[in-house]
Amino acid sequence: MQCISKITALRELVTEWRNAGQSIALVPTMGNLHSGHLALVERAQEAADRTIVSIFVNPTQFVAGEDYKEYPRTFDEDIEKLSTWRTDLVFHPEVEEVYPKGLHGKTCVTVPELDNFLCGAFRPGHFAGVATVVTKLFNIVQPDIAIFGEKDYQQLLVIRQLVTDLCFPVDVIGVPTIREEDGLALSSRNEYLSANERKAALLLYRTLMGIADAIDKDERDFITLEQQATESLIKAGFRPDYVKICNADNLGKPGTGDMVVLAAAWLGKARLIDNVIIRR
Ligand code: PAJ
Repeated sequence: MQCISKITALRELVTEWRNAGQSIALVPTMGNLHSGHLALVERAQEAADRTIVSIFVNPTQFVAGEDYKEYPRTFDEDIEKLSTWRTDLVFHPEVEEVYPKGLHGKTCVTVPELDNFLCGAFRPGHFAGVATVVTKLFNIVQPDIAIFGEKDYQQLLVIRQLVTDLCFPVDVIGVPTIREEDGLALSSRNEYLSANERKAALLLYRTLMGIADAIDKDERDFITLEQQATESLIKAGFRPDYVKICNADNLGKPGTGDMVVLAAAWLGKARLIDNVIIRR
């Protein structure tokens, strides 16, 4: 496994692979890798000849006052995990390599239809930061396939939309959320939870599953379901940003097709997000 931090060196290697007729899958991450990330790596290996994992804590997707500085950086452990997982290349650039002219006032990619509600409303500019860095990574690596988690459902739709709108020849694959035994979705931010908060955290997934069950049983008063869920989260010590039932394809009003129940809620210092997809 090679570890590269410069764009030119990465391009040389990728050109060699491409000239040898090999397909390339990219797994973008911010590091602090857990089994959720590794499920994406496994999917990449099934889908392409070569797997590239990027590890880059992207400053432009953190809103002022968020945890950019505290975000866990565990590069050595990450490399150890990836080296046992048949990863071909880890791309680990410095901020200056990705943003050579600084972070502000430069070209930026936005996906307006999807980026100003749900998480976008609570983290203004977040999805523009994600869309911009993913566009850069796609242009740097030029992968055939890119793998993202359904755990960040709105992010996955933002990326699918930008691939369509900007005509990227990249096949985006979504991978189901990997969870702890009690149902809590794996996340780098779970380590901000105290022991008691960690116990309470499983309620987020249970609450979403409760809504999904009710919808399966033909309950259609979505607003009441959202309100009841919000109240039970507050009772359990969460500070919910939103609980929302949406159309799974575009996050618009739910109709007769697939739906997704999404939530974001603070518990102590951790902002947890999760979702449950209801296939119709
Ligand atoms: P990060 O939070 O490191 O997540 C990297 C990828 O892992 C994302 O596609 C995310 O959806 C997926 N992932 C995280 N937890 C998961 C879980 N429990 N199960 C399955 N997949 C999971 O998302 C980002 O980084 C960044 O925004 C990025 C796309 C890298 C752009 O900077």
